[in-house]
Amino acid sequence: MSVAVELRHITKRFPGVVANKDVSMKVETGTVHALVGENGAGKSTVMKILYGMQHPDSGEILVNGKAVNLKNPNDAIELGIGMVHQHFMLADNFTVLENIILGAEPQHGVTIDFKAARAKVTEMSKAYGLDVDPDILVEELGVGQRQRVEILKVLFRGANILIFDEPTAVLVPQEVDDLFSALQGLRAKGMAVIFISHKLDEVLRVADDVTVVRAGETVAEVKAKDVTARQLAELMVGSELPQPTTHGDTRRAEITLALKDVSIPTATGSRDLISHITFDLHAGEVVGIAGVEGNGQAELVEAIMGLRDYTGSIEFHGSAIDHMSVAHRHDLGIGLIPEDRQRQALMMSSPLWENRILGHQRGKPVMRGFIVDKKATIEDTKRIMEEFDVRAPGPMTAAAALSGGNQQKFIVGREMSKAPALLVASHPTRGVDVGAQGAIWEVLREARTKGMAIVLISADLEELVGMSDRLFVMLRGAFTAELDPQKITLEQLGSAMTGAA
Ligand SMILES: Nc1ncnc2c1ncn2[C@@H]1O[C@H](COP(=O)(O)OP(=O)(O)OP(=O)(O)O)[C@@H](O)[C@H]1O
Ligand SMILES: [Mg+2]
Repeated sequence: MSVAVELRHITKRFPGVVANKDVSMKVETGTVHALVGENGAGKSTVMKILYGMQHPDSGEILVNGKAVNLKNPNDAIELGIGMVHQHFMLADNFTVLENIILGAEPQHGVTIDFKAARAKVTEMSKAYGLDVDPDILVEELGVGQRQRVEILKVLFRGANILIFDEPTAVLVPQEVDDLFSALQGLRAKGMAVIFISHKLDEVLRVADDVTVVRAGETVAEVKAKDVTARQLAELMVGSELPQPTTHGDTRRAEITLALKDVSIPTATGSRDLISHITFDLHAGEVVGIAGVEGNGQAELVEAIMGLRDYTGSIEFHGSAIDHMSVAHRHDLGIGLIPEDRQRQALMMSSPLWENRILGHQRGKPVMRGFIVDKKATIEDTKRIMEEFDVRAPGPMTAAAALSGGNQQKFIVGREMSKAPALLVASHPTRGVDVGAQGAIWEVLREARTKGMAIVLISADLEELVGMSDRLFVMLRGAFTAELDPQKITLEQLGSAMTGAA
């Protein structure tokens, strides 16, 4: 492998801000090299320097081993460096072909040799899977296709070092897949690709190497295969991310929930949906249920909440609740964070204060006698928003306007406002960002300390192992193993879940 580009100790100041201080990176030929960092970390600036659009205050740039001085983008293009811009710079009322050759027209005498250009573009399109009609007007193209034109334009100028600044920010998933296969093609042809993205899963999918910058400095250069998205995020922010852990033993003597031989037979009489489930859950204890989705976890939740008929018995604080309705169980102190928040826990088009009422239509603060106390409900919605860091303009904002993480924090806050003795938490942090995740874990931890009993169902094995005091593995409707989360490895847990162990 040879090094296509090396940046050494690049420093760049703007009035009042150091955009880059001591950025170094080495990009090998035939690789995709990701550049990641928080907003404002200096990624775009250092790439503009490499493309000759900005000039470093100090530092060195080496291209194919030689120190270079880039006065402008033409110098960069000359050296085979191309930039695929984040904001496309194509001329709308020209054809694809015209856009590609604009400024780099192959001459044939004094006329432009369109024939040769068209042949070359067609060949490049084929070679890299960048399919686009050369004769269509650019204004008729969608975003994904415009991007292909930008890439072809850069390749047409003979680039073998390609810079992509957040190319996927504007793409839909299918277009992302297409772009990534094009990148793999470029890589296979020995080109060096530099790729900036905030989506760390994407970075790990497409990149060979990753350079992490923080506040203008290179803080790490790692192989993508050696890191997780979480580790990358930690490097980006420079501190440890919140961990899904509980501390000490807070388990109390009293048994909050007891399932005794609970089964849900199917109508057809084939295998039970859940089969002979028996366990005790103490106050101050978290019991985790591990399992590949669809092995009865959802039905177990439904049985506990009273959403489904079952055989056997469920006791809450020592008394059978089998005859009780969903509402009755909720009133007794059984809370639920449901699996599908948008469908099961929110009225998406209604304001947050109306969502505050959902499932709490009995008693204070929502009801005064038989009527909804709007003022008190709005006040309490504000309280939840503050206490649980729900970021939205106010209680009048529609649930749909909130990000997923903020919706989830609101649901957790609403459920906790009744201080349930038992909380059934089904994928409580699914799809939320690391900040919201940490906040939800903290809520669960605190409630556990105060004596709440928690049934935790999660596909996030780190969360499950870290937060649980005891773990059951659920497979085809039955508990097939009880594991000690302190002792089990994620690999062992994975095998147990698939029945391999
Ligand atoms: N032309 C400029 N003039 C003044 N300041 C600038 C200029 N370009 C960038 N900066 C500043 O330099 C810092 C780094 O910006 P840069 O655009 O490189 O960040 P970035 O890592 O690309 O961020 P993002 O992820 O948001 O795109 C920021 O504080 C930014 O405001
Ligand atoms: Mg940027």
